[in-house]
Amino acid sequence: MEGAISSRPNTRVAVVTGGNKGIGFEVCRQLAVDGGVTVVLTARDEARGAEAAERLRALGVTDAVFHQLDITDASSIATLVYFLDTRFGKLDILVNNAGVGGVEYPQELEANDGQFAGLDSKQRLEWMVKNVREPIDAARKAVETNYYGTKHVTQALLPLLQSSKEGRIVTVSSEYGLLRLISNEEARRDLNDIDNLTEERLDELLGKFLNDFEEGDALETHGWPTGFSAYKVAMAATNAYSRILARRHPMLRVNCAHPGYVKTDMSMGSGVLTPEEGAQRVVMVALLPDGGPTGKYFTKGEEASFV
Ligand SMILES: NC(=O)c1ccc[n+]([C@@H]2O[C@H](COP(=O)([O-])OP(=O)(O)OC[C@H]3O[C@@H](n4cnc5c(N)ncnc54)[C@H](OP(=O)(O)O)[C@@H]3O)[C@@H](O)[C@H]2O)c1
Repeated sequence: MEGAISSRPNTRVAVVTGGNKGIGFEVCRQLAVDGGVTVVLTARDEARGAEAAERLRALGVTDAVFHQLDITDASSIATLVYFLDTRFGKLDILVNNAGVGGVEYPQELEANDGQFAGLDSKQRLEWMVKNVREPIDAARKAVETNYYGTKHVTQALLPLLQSSKEGRIVTVSSEYGLLRLISNEEARRDLNDIDNLTEERLDELLGKFLNDFEEGDALETHGWPTGFSAYKVAMAATNAYSRILARRHPMLRVNCAHPGYVKTDMSMGSGVLTPEEGAQRVVMVALLPDGGPTGKYFTKGEEASFV
């Protein structure tokens, strides 16, 4: 499972979730190449992860290792924690990248780059919304993966991050998680009230959202966003959790980074940026100088509002 690694003493160690493809793979490569960081590339599927680690090596990265991690599986998380603890005794950077779209992608549709020529981002996103379905199972999976999976991995890795000189958590976020997309006033207010927001309140809001989702037309009447609805609500909750953690752990650096609209499987290749360009915006936040900002949201590499 774990490949060979030649970690240098005093090198920073990073874990990237969902590192086998897309933005996550590029984050692994850039952290190793540009940051001189020892990278633990994780993936839920052993074969896809091992193949990705091989691709990294072929690109000249020697300081990387693969370890299996399904962020929705408690025993998989525990095995990774044990591996990191015995191998490194600390973790310097956690990049929460793994995620799902909360939609069902059409099997028959093969998007190709040419079909998006001349379309701006808004038109491309409209094309996506038109071509996907949003069944309740996919919505539940988005909440379970993007919010709860990210939270459980982060919680489990906190002690190792606290053993670092300055542990960092970067959650790959999205402008789809911005609070302006939620017109439910109570939810929007509470998600932004970081001094008083609790994890229990986040559970409650996500539960209400999924109940409304199941009822179909209750989504719009209760002011939840539509079009990648579960992705948007789960992302807003994940942003809020990141801000709670920053408040609770001032010695850590806990931030969210929007990579932009990137050509990956999640966007069915419709994005306007390459994975390299998207990953740069994440890696920039992961490698900010010591003592930098915490509890912030970055877009296009700059601090911006969560609202
Ligand atoms: N693409 C965009 O325009 C865009 C914009 C804003 C934010 N983002 C965010 O960027 C992140 C990466 O997305 P991407 O665009 O690179 O999509 P992607 O190519 O579909 O990659 C998603 C990654 O997450 C992994 N994953 C899914 N569920 C997992 C689980 N339970 N445990 C572990 N890994 C899991 C996937 O693994 P498998 O290969 O096994 O499925 C894959 O490695 C996501 O969090 C997404 O929300 C993307």
